[in-house]
Amino acid sequence: MIILGIETSCDETALALIETRGSGADFEFHILGSLIHSQADLHSAYGGVFPNLAKREHGKNLVPLLDKLLIESNISQRGTADFPAFLAKIKSEIESSNPDLYESLMNASFLNSIPAIDRIAVTEGPGLEPTLWVGITFAEMLSKFWSVPVIPVNHMEGHVVASLVQSDKADGTWQRFRTLPLPALALLISGGHTELVTMNEPGHYEIVGETRDDAVGEAYDKVARLLGLPYPGGPQISKMADEAEKAGIVSSVTLPRPMISSRDLNFSFSGLKTAVLYAVRDHQPLTPDFVRGLALEFERAVCETLATKLHKALEQTGAQAIIVGGGVSANRRLRAAFQKLADEFGIPLFLPSTHLSGDNALMIALAGADAKHEPDRLVRAQGTKRLGMK
Ligand code: KG4
Ligand code: ZN
Repeated sequence: MIILGIETSCDETALALIETRGSGADFEFHILGSLIHSQADLHSAYGGVFPNLAKREHGKNLVPLLDKLLIESNISQRGTADFPAFLAKIKSEIESSNPDLYESLMNASFLNSIPAIDRIAVTEGPGLEPTLWVGITFAEMLSKFWSVPVIPVNHMEGHVVASLVQSDKADGTWQRFRTLPLPALALLISGGHTELVTMNEPGHYEIVGETRDDAVGEAYDKVARLLGLPYPGGPQISKMADEAEKAGIVSSVTLPRPMISSRDLNFSFSGLKTAVLYAVRDHQPLTPDFVRGLALEFERAVCETLATKLHKALEQTGAQAIIVGGGVSANRRLRAAFQKLADEFGIPLFLPSTHLSGDNALMIALAGADAKHEPDRLVRAQGTKRLGMK
């Protein structure tokens, strides 16, 4: 089966094609292609993602990206069709709600043939609703034109699956997921989420802890902004922290480690961000060394907080494996802390490759591969969709 994955939940327009065979324990796949168009530079000026701009950009980027993916993956055709006639029929459904998508569809020459794609997996949430809708509208349109089903995928499940991929290379090699001992505990850390999730059986998730306010990636982005660093803040702060460590800079400010002594598995990062705000206010004008030192102190605070909660969750759940996923899992210092914890518990740690830690469509195609197609299930954007909910 050949699956097209579509991801537009935030500021990355991403498409991927995989070929799969078998199911359950015999499931195998290989990557035909995976493309990501990041809008980060555009949103940088706003210090964060600007939803309407993101929506427009997805509308403009999806068609050329699919064009490129189909060419690069050299996928065979299973027929021809009159796309202009089809587009004329669905014009009213798309043109007013997604003018940018409609305009690029009018110039989409490749759509005159039907590629040998068997299903489409699309992110339905969580994420920004206006941007989710662009991906869903595109998926529904292709589904009608190609006569293939659409499978809705939870973005957070995608991040879990991304950590189980052995190789992110599109080199034609068939692969299986890494063997995951169960029960497993996933720590999902991204721009919109910070949650601890148990997985007792494949595909069965339960959220056992989550943030009460800001997500950890959001804290990184906001703190970066306070320190005068561009969006996305994670890599920037990380770089500053590394420089501080190398130069032996010690922060004069100590930041809180929020909620580390609470018994529950929840997080809170808004207090940490406020503490940075006060530190910045009280140390004007900021010197480069102060910024570096504070970046390191912030990263250490995040690291200790996440590791402490993960430790507690491992004790409480008796998990046999740790999965860490989401954009923030690219962080070197955090990865080292999680590895230390896994070694201490004597259990394996599953981390995504750096290509798959951020948003991508490969993880969406993979998460949609084993799912049953439910013809009556309406695909609609669900901005606050939670793992473990239908
Ligand atoms: O998963 P993701 O790509 O998008 C969402 O679903 O939110 O995560 C994006 C987040 C951003 O907040 C970004 O600052 C953060 O991941 N991030 C990092 C690093 N790279 C990206 N945070 C800390 N360290 C990094 N190296
Ligand atoms: Zn994400």
